[in-house]
Amino acid sequence: MHRIIQLSDLHFGTVNAHVLNALVHTLRQLSPSLCIVSGDITQRARRSEFLAANAWLKTLPAPVLCIPGNHDIPLFALWTRFLHPYGRYRRYLHKEVEPLLETDRAIVIGVNTTTPFRHKRGIVSDAQIRRVEQLALDNAAGKGVIVVAHHPFHVLDEADEDQLVENHEAAIRAWSAAGVDLILGGHIHVPYVYPLTRRYPDLPNPTLVVQGGTTTSYRVRRHIPNSLNVLDLYPEKKIHITTWTYQSKDSGHADRFTCAEKDMWKTV
Ligand SMILES: [Fe+2]
Ligand SMILES: [Fe+2]
Repeated sequence: MHRIIQLSDLHFGTVNAHVLNALVHTLRQLSPSLCIVSGDITQRARRSEFLAANAWLKTLPAPVLCIPGNHDIPLFALWTRFLHPYGRYRRYLHKEVEPLLETDRAIVIGVNTTTPFRHKRGIVSDAQIRRVEQLALDNAAGKGVIVVAHHPFHVLDEADEDQLVENHEAAIRAWSAAGVDLILGGHIHVPYVYPLTRRYPDLPNPTLVVQGGTTTSYRVRRHIPNSLNVLDLYPEKKIHITTWTYQSKDSGHADRFTCAEKDMWKTV
């Protein structure tokens, strides 16, 4: 088994300190091989927020692969937003906005769906679609192929449809045909796993959308608690995904993340 943890929408600047503390303990307990952060690492792309995020990410018990979210581009500083949208991100977090990482059992491909020309909605270009397609086709070792984006490629709620990444269907069809197994996303702060063959029955492979909720921000949506996803990869592309949600002291427990049976998804 090979364990990858998906954190998302950390939003340093609006972090709940109790949740962050519980997360540190949970991550130690889960002992991952890799931590992925699917964007919105800061709240307003401030220098202080990037510095705090960077310092915290360095304490994690595994390598980290992150990509930017729309909140990681300065919003009001227009000069910076349009001329150097990822300047702070590159300086304080990672020089690459589309990182690529290979582990024993997976190829993890970062895709930057943000653009300074849009406040919230994301886009995936034809060139980005081709890049992922080629990397997946080159996967001679038959490893799991995981795409990490910020904006969702499928939503469950009609109210979220305007948050779907533009060009999502073209990407899904090309990537599924090339052997992409999982498309990770964040942005809408709602965690779920969705088999894309339900929406597109003619897809050649059973590609899954795996959405992360906000892991640490107090700005949760629809009272959905903070969460993280645990992806356990087994041979022959078998996978077991669990969503762990934060339980506060107010619920009668010690502050911690726990996993309920209903939050499991598996092909193992
Ligand atoms: Fe977010
Ligand atoms: Fe976002």
